[in-house]
Formats: sequence, C-alpha cells, structure tokens
Amino acid sequence: MAALTGMTALITGASRGIGRGIARRFAAEGARLVLCASRLGAHGDLKGTLQEAVAEINDGGGEAVAIACDLADAGARADLVAQAQEALGPLDIIVNNAAAAVMQLPSQVSTAERNMMYDVNLNAPIDLAQQALPGMRERRRGWILNISSASAHQPVVPYRDSQIAAHVIAAYGSTKAALDRYTQGLAHEVAGDGVFVNTLAPENIVLTSGADYVRDIARRNPDMAEPVEVMAEAALELCCARHVGQVCYSRRLLHAVGRDVYSLDGRERLGDAFLPADLEATA
Ligand SMILES: NC(=O)c1ccc[n+]([C@@H]2O[C@H](COP(=O)([O-])OP(=O)(O)OC[C@H]3O[C@@H](n4cnc5c(N)ncnc54)[C@H](OP(=O)(O)O)[C@@H]3O)[C@@H](O)[C@H]2O)c1
Repeated sequence: MAALTGMTALITGASRGIGRGIARRFAAEGARLVLCASRLGAHGDLKGTLQEAVAEINDGGGEAVAIACDLADAGARADLVAQAQEALGPLDIIVNNAAAAVMQLPSQVSTAERNMMYDVNLNAPIDLAQQALPGMRERRRGWILNISSASAHQPVVPYRDSQIAAHVIAAYGSTKAALDRYTQGLAHEVAGDGVFVNTLAPENIVLTSGADYVRDIARRNPDMAEPVEVMAEAALELCCARHVGQVCYSRRLLHAVGRDVYSLDGRERLGDAFLPADLEATA
C-alpha cells in the first residue's frame, strides 16, 4: 500500500518549486491534496500556477483541489484550514512550504519587508498549525512539516563563492531561525498526542524560480545544488514516520535513515541521498 493512502494534506506554496515537487510526490503515495498559493492562475500562460499544479495531479489520477490565499494577510489565512477541511475532510498533514524572501542588507531591510517575511514565513505556519492541531490531537494523528533554510545560520568563513550567504539573506534567514525554534517547542508539546512536527531545509540550493538569484553560484559549484526530488523524498519521510522536533537537512536525513530517492511520480528509483542536480532545470 502507498505510504499516504487515506491521508489528506494541505501544502502551501504548491504552485511551483519545492512545494509543487512535494505535492506530486505525496500524490504518488496516495494523498488527497489541498494546494495553496497566493494566486490561482494567470491569464494565458498557466506555467507555474496553482491551476496547472492541480490539473497535473488530477490528470495523473490523483486528487487535488486549489485554494488561493495570501498568507501574508492574517485575515485571509484565518480560516484556511477550515476551508481545506471543508473541501477534502480532516487534515492529516500540513506542509508549510510557502515563503517570502526579500534580499536586502540587514541595515536597510524595511519594516514592511520584515513584517511581510515574518508573516508568510513564521506567523502563517504558526497560525495554520494552531488551526489544525485541535482536530489532529482529537484524532491522535497528524504531521506538520515546516520548510526551513540553511540561511537560519550564519555560514562559516571564508564564505563559499558569494557574500550573499553572509548578509543580504540574513533577514529572511532570521525568520527561518525563529521557525526552527518554534517548531522544536511545538513538537515536544504535541508528540504525546500523536502529532509529529519537524522542520526540513534543503541541504543545498534547489533550482526553483524563487532561487534564481543563486543560479549562477550553483552553475559554478555543482555540488551546491540538489534536485527537487531529494527534498520531496525527505518531506515524505517526515510526513509518515514518527520524528519529533527535528531540524533536518534533506540529504543528511535521507542518508541517516537510508532512504532512496524516487521520481516525483513515485515510479522510478533515481538514486540515494547523493543524487546530483540538473543545473539547467527549474523546479
Ligand atoms: N530553493 C531553495 O534553494 C531553497 C533554499 C532554502 C530554503 N528554501 C525554502 O523552500 C521553500 C520553497 O522554496 P522555493 O524555492 O520552492 O520557492 P518558490 O519557487 O519561490 O515558490 C514559492 C511558493 O510560495 C508561494 N507563495 C509565496 N508567497 C506567498 C504568499 N504570500 N501566500 C501564499 N503563497 C505564497 C508561491 O506562489 P504564488 O507566487 O502564486 O503565491 C509559490 O508557490 C521556502 O520555504 C523556502 O524558504 C528554498
């Protein structure tokens, strides 16, 4: 039986990039999905839209519905879990993957930019967890996965290839550091109720449209990139096993638990935790 048969998952930031990869991998394991992004579609070209992501899963024999919600808006996200449960029933899994990343020097990042990043990257995951937890605790079954980033930590000197990791990414990284810490505390609060909460970050750069500003760095240093399939597989591990309060990195997690990496449709074994990235692909 597929790993997520009978499970329902809400995945934010699922129109493209890592969130869409996780959605496809979870669909292949039998999960029914509510996919969220701030916009449903675009006029004309549907590439990288929520509409396209949902159609891809439904056309492949899975079951997905779309909810457009701007997670930066506290009012708009206040009933997102209720909307998701109305659409597909009680949620077993939430993957808080959507994020906002403003690259700006720490000395100059504005209040509006900081508030927006803290809202999407920290307050939204907390709000969605708090909305879902009563039901998950009652059913004594749930998984909450918060997608984090290595930028939560200041890198060691000398900085590899670029100063980006040293300063302009710091304000965004601080939202992820807060998310990691919150996650650990919540995980220990609710593990006894059968709810498993963790964070997962890419070990390396996943070449998404959101990570385009570091594409040249990845091209110069191929070992600084990882395929989206590695993150999707690690997310699957954290949404069906009983890990508690881990702050995980994708390749390290897969290596530690001895888990192979599969194609997003689940049909093909691609390799192990060291699977190299295609540097020209965009997830
Ligand atoms: N790519 C990497 O190398 C990397 C490295 C470290 C950490 N991460 C983390 O991995 C996660 C995914 O990154 P990614 O590179 O795949 O991102 P991405 O390609 O930029 O995609 C971001 C997703 O989030 C959605 N989103 C953004 N703002 C939103 C909002 N206000 N409300 C609702 N949805 C919103 C976007 O959809 P719309 O635009 O339609 O709203 C899109 O679906 C993030 O948490 C990021 O911090 C990525």
